[in-house]
Amino acid sequence: MERRVYTLCGLLLLITVGYLNWYSSSSGSNGGGGIKIPIPWLQPRMGFVGRNSTRFVDLDDGSPVYINGWNSYWLLSSGSKDWVSEMLRRGREMGMTVCRTWAFSDGGPDALQISPGRFDEHVFEALDFVIYEARRNHIRLILCLVNNLNAFGGKAQYVRWAQAAGENVTTSSDSFFSNPTIKGYYKNYIKAILTRRNSYSGVRYFDEPAIFAWELINEPRCVSNSSAPHLQAWITEMASYIKTWDKNHLVTVGLEGFYGPQRTERLNINPGEWAASLCSDFTQNSAVEHIDFASVHAYPDSWIPRASLEEKIRYLSSWVDSHVNDSEHVLRKPVLFSEVGFHRIVKKNETYDRDILLKIVYDKVYESAKKEQAGAGALIWQLMVEGMQTYHDDFSLVARQHSPTYKLIIQQSCRLQKLFRKEAKTSIKAEGPCSKLH
Ligand SMILES: *[C@@H]1O[C@H](CO)[C@@H](O)[C@H](O)[C@H]1NC(C)=O
Ligand SMILES: *[C@@H]1O[C@H](CO)[C@@H](O)[C@H](O)[C@H]1NC(C)=O
Ligand SMILES: *[C@@H]1O[C@H](CO)[C@@H](O)[C@H](O)[C@H]1NC(C)=O
Ligand SMILES: *[C@@H]1O[C@H](CO)[C@@H](O)[C@H](O)[C@H]1NC(C)=O
Ligand SMILES: *[C@@H]1O[C@H](CO)[C@@H](O)[C@H](O)[C@H]1NC(C)=O
Repeated sequence: MERRVYTLCGLLLLITVGYLNWYSSSSGSNGGGGIKIPIPWLQPRMGFVGRNSTRFVDLDDGSPVYINGWNSYWLLSSGSKDWVSEMLRRGREMGMTVCRTWAFSDGGPDALQISPGRFDEHVFEALDFVIYEARRNHIRLILCLVNNLNAFGGKAQYVRWAQAAGENVTTSSDSFFSNPTIKGYYKNYIKAILTRRNSYSGVRYFDEPAIFAWELINEPRCVSNSSAPHLQAWITEMASYIKTWDKNHLVTVGLEGFYGPQRTERLNINPGEWAASLCSDFTQNSAVEHIDFASVHAYPDSWIPRASLEEKIRYLSSWVDSHVNDSEHVLRKPVLFSEVGFHRIVKKNETYDRDILLKIVYDKVYESAKKEQAGAGALIWQLMVEGMQTYHDDFSLVARQHSPTYKLIIQQSCRLQKLFRKEAKTSIKAEGPCSKLH
């Protein structure tokens, strides 16, 4: 009897080892194969990121985390596993650690949320795949939960849903931030996402360390600045709602970083008078208790389009300084420059304005990292792979086709990595891009 048990155990062990070998070889470098083993403990080892005062920390060992990362908003919506796998692999190859992307698609064709509370399982599986692939590449994701803009539905879609349900809402999209029915729709969405069990990994999203943070809304703005108190209350309510379901993950707003009309001493930092009238206020919005870190965008080419390069440099420098300083001294939270985008304009001198401006942000993040201060990282907007013309905008690029930018990105990854290199992890990193630089 006992021998039969041992034999059985041996046989099971053999099968398991054989299966794992087959799995790891068949899900090799380009990974698009989609072989599912939804067993949480078979996923690659990864810890959560938390924060200690003004710094992000790796909760495994308490070491500081400073980020070089990127945006690829299209991972969910492109419908191509190959593009997703390739983009995440290239991000890793550039030494980047965080990617920000949309975890929403509301109404319209190929929507994740077809109507309030109804989801397309097939599209949800595409999001599962994005998260699963991120983890395999040791990339963490910032997942944004709704758009302020109309692309992929956005808050305007929520307003239309409420109207279709017979709610008495004005057509102004500002009602997104105050109407109880619409807030209920959005909370249902949060709950559905957070409690989702990944069909590839078996890991629930709220338990998934490959998720760096939840972002409430991409670039919140209002039509009327009298909606400012509604936006502030909405941020408070939704951030704490996330925390009731998920204590593992960081939460941020998704702000562009404009200072509101009350912040008179900071108004000259804004890119123009218009920026104070959109009902957001960087300091007040980011100060909310359950908002773990601040977020800022930077688009000098569209915000001050007629300025010279020198003026853009001056503007961008003080924009970054001011937000790092406020985060360090006033908010006491890390700040992430979660979208930094620059036009593709060639200079006579063989340098792109983009590289000059990007380097300003990178240098300031690096200086902050050296001092272990609040400037916690920057994410370039946005990276693609070849053949994605329909997803391009004025700022996007295939990094390896732009050698100076490509090198700049890798340099930033490597110098940040070097600052906090951990002995135990160098063996893993040894094959990365930074080993080639020495
Ligand atoms: C936060 O960082 C400080 C300074 O490095 C350290 O003394 C403290 O133990 C850390 N706190 C936690 C909870 O990790
Ligand atoms: C709809 O709302 C407006 C203002 O919020 C109010 O004046 C109006 O009476 C409402 N209509 C109905 C049918 O409740
Ligand atoms: C709205 O904007 C005006 C003009 O910029 C300003 O005076 C007023 O304080 C703002 N109101 C709110 C609620 O922010
Ligand atoms: C940074 O913030 C501190 C404290 O609020 C302030 O004293 C200092 O002048 C600020 N520096 C800059 C460059 O804004
Ligand atoms: C052109 O590049 C050289 C070398 O990088 C630099 O010294 C010079 O200032 C640049 N000229 C202009 C006009 O940007």
